[in-house]
Amino acid sequence: TKITFIEFDGTPHPVEAENGAILMRVGQQNEIPTIRGECGGTCSCGSCHVYVDEAWLGRLKPPHELEQMMIDSLAMTKQDNSRLTCMILVSAEIDGLVLRLPNPNL
Ligand code: FES
Repeated sequence: TKITFIEFDGTPHPVEAENGAILMRVGQQNEIPTIRGECGGTCSCGSCHVYVDEAWLGRLKPPHELEQMMIDSLAMTKQDNSRLTCMILVSAEIDGLVLRLPNPNL
């Protein structure tokens, strides 16, 4: 499954991800900047935050309550299309997904 992470400065990082993998781990394995996953994927740090490309809005399952609460705490960087990659599993349905990374200086 192809996923493309795009850095804040526009640098694209296309990666191949195994179905069933946690998207945050895919980011770590591919050394995607800003995908740090400091809490180990327990939805409690916000360091795996991305913005879903507009073309993909509405095509992902919506965030559950815990993910939304964590996103809401990211006051500086959150947007309507914010998601946490530790809460998204790779599957064939998200083949081609484009994610944008937050400003690393915030
Ligand atoms: Fe900590 Fe996702 S890795 S919230």
